[in-house]
Amino acid sequence: MTFLELAQQRYSERYFDSRPVEKEKLDLILEAGRIAPTGCNYQPQRVYVIQSNEAMKKAISTKASLCGCPIALLVCYDREEVWKNPGDRCYKNYNCGEQDACSVAVSMIFEAEELGVHSLWIRGFDSQDVIDALRLPENHVPVMILALGYPSDKSHPAHLHGKRKPLQETVKYI
Ligand SMILES: Cc1cc2nc3c(=O)[nH]c(=O)nc-3n(C[C@H](O)[C@H](O)[C@H](O)COP(=O)(O)O)c2cc1C
Repeated sequence: MTFLELAQQRYSERYFDSRPVEKEKLDLILEAGRIAPTGCNYQPQRVYVIQSNEAMKKAISTKASLCGCPIALLVCYDREEVWKNPGDRCYKNYNCGEQDACSVAVSMIFEAEELGVHSLWIRGFDSQDVIDALRLPENHVPVMILALGYPSDKSHPAHLHGKRKPLQETVKYI
């Protein structure tokens, strides 16, 4: 399968099965995140693997739409380790943390997809809820949660999955 075929195959999973994700697969997913590019290679990402019942209960208490996933990855960046671009004249000391977290998350999503593990990118949470529920250190900024798992019988792409703007609307040749 080409990368484009893999990308076309992926959709946001909102109907997870309770079947656990094998440790070997989780390790590969985490490895894909580890080798992802980050600003100045500072690697400020901090990934919390939410897998115990206790941690999952706490994550569920934040009202993030975990959709019954058996495992979830909270991707944060460390605000003390992140690269800040001192040369940006628009945004002084532009902070690359969100981009770093996205870079790591995207690599993990597609590694998961290749392994048959579905995912849901979740940002519809209140950061303070996540910080409090999971008792994050002060310097860890939560960026997104990736819910991971196998699809259940009900699994299907939501209607938005099929809706993408044509390239002419989003790409400009200059
Ligand atoms: C930055 C970002 C935040 C998102 N937050 C949520 C969320 O909180 N809950 C949710 O159900 N889906 C969330 N999604 C998934 C999007 O709704 C989904 O990717 C989009 O509708 C396209 O559908 P598809 O992923 O099936 O192609 C998020 C995706 C991104 C990239």
